[in-house]
Amino acid sequence: MITATATRTTDSLQRFGALVGLQAGPTSAAEPAVNASRASRASPTINDHDILTQAKASYFATMDTYRAMGLSPSDYLGPIWSNNLEQHLIPNIRKCQTIEQAIGYLNDKAFYDFSCAEPYLTPSIDWRIDFLRRTAGCEVDALPAALCESPYVLAKHCKQVGSRLLSSDFLNRLAWVSRLQRLLDFPQQAFSILEVGGGFGALARVFKLVYPQSRVVLVDIPESLFFQHAFLNASFPNARHQYVTSPDEAITDADFVYVPNGFANALSQRDFYLAVNTNSFGEMPQQASSRWLDLIQHETSTQNIFFLNRFMNRIGKDLMETRHGHSNWSFNLDDRWAVKEWEVDPDYERCPYFQTTLTRNVHVVASRGAKPGVEADALRQRAELIKLEDWYRRPGWSDFKLVSGAAYPPVMSRGDLDLTPDLRRTGTLYALWSLVRLTPEPQWVEMLITYLDYLNGQQTELFFEEIPTLMQIHARRI
Ligand SMILES: C[S@@+](CC[C@H](N)C(=O)[O-])C[C@H]1O[C@@H](n2cnc3c(N)ncnc32)[C@H](O)[C@@H]1O
Repeated sequence: MITATATRTTDSLQRFGALVGLQAGPTSAAEPAVNASRASRASPTINDHDILTQAKASYFATMDTYRAMGLSPSDYLGPIWSNNLEQHLIPNIRKCQTIEQAIGYLNDKAFYDFSCAEPYLTPSIDWRIDFLRRTAGCEVDALPAALCESPYVLAKHCKQVGSRLLSSDFLNRLAWVSRLQRLLDFPQQAFSILEVGGGFGALARVFKLVYPQSRVVLVDIPESLFFQHAFLNASFPNARHQYVTSPDEAITDADFVYVPNGFANALSQRDFYLAVNTNSFGEMPQQASSRWLDLIQHETSTQNIFFLNRFMNRIGKDLMETRHGHSNWSFNLDDRWAVKEWEVDPDYERCPYFQTTLTRNVHVVASRGAKPGVEADALRQRAELIKLEDWYRRPGWSDFKLVSGAAYPPVMSRGDLDLTPDLRRTGTLYALWSLVRLTPEPQWVEMLITYLDYLNGQQTELFFEEIPTLMQIHARRI
């Protein structure tokens, strides 16, 4: 009889080994914000014009400094963002005459947000209002008036609901913050949030509205930082804003601090209550996400993290080069994080209107303080039970006897396409992901590849984007 362990992992490794050009190795086992509603908004003022002029001047000065430092986008960008830069972001920065134009251009192309127009807008807003009510007991209607979408956001993505301007994107971000509110004990006194890759500043705005005592430090490529700088300045005209102009400039206690990625050294030794990265690590080359993880994990004192990034999306061979290195970040979270929540495809992203066209993500909330080795030891024990799970043992019927190592899964079975895997911290996926992350042992990489292969219905045409990364990690560990 073939044992489940050897056959199944070898199968998966060999099939994917050919795919990524690797040989399979041996198998071991806020202050009041501007404009509460679109109706009440004044037309662009001289202030907006000044803010835009200042943001452009800061951006062009940064680019001069980058040139003097010999820093260019190819040093930190992958193909997706290099293309965005050339085709869209830089022309938009040069041409925009108003903040609405600058932000509207981005919204229209969904570079940095999850917004939609009708006919998706109304049902998605209704779904998200209901979601907040049923999961967090939050009545959007009863929230302070300032908690609304920004009037700088593209009008067709917004809807007036009562006296409040709403969008699907705003309510989505509110759901993130509301989830964090229930998990973390946010200080009453001033505290700092570090956001890496903050798009045009939509999440930073929501944080500041919910926690006026927060100071938000934003680090990004200069082009995206330009939009954050303009949008947040215009949204909080009375707040203190600092745009960092060199790696040596000291960070102040301004409400918003904008740090171009090339000057990120300015952030070392800083304290952050929370570091955030959403829809961004999964779009960066490995060296860029590693740089940010180093900053968060080693160079700053960061107490909590909230990361929401692409995970378990299927790609074909044709996308492997474009997506190269984008799946590494999650395996580089170190062993001092106590994971509070981990969930693939978190509930707030299950809006059936428009959101199914966006990536599937993993939601991670973790706090400092885990004792290295403790979780890995517990998971190693748990993994002994995982080895008894059907996808691993491959049970089947032979001559009226249940045997292991059969052709598994049979058709017309639950295992044929598992529609209800536990994708939270209690599930097999989390245990294997953690073991890959926390230990150097190749057997967990093999098991994770095998489990992903099982969840994907054992096909190689389209496979989970983590497979090539895991194959490379495996090759390094054997
Ligand atoms: C799709 S947007 C996500 C924006 C926002 N976090 C959100 O969830 O809406 C990706 C973000 O990652 C940023 N980004 C891309 N490459 C980066 C890099 N090498 N370093 C820092 N940020 C980067 C982009 O500038 C952008 O702000």
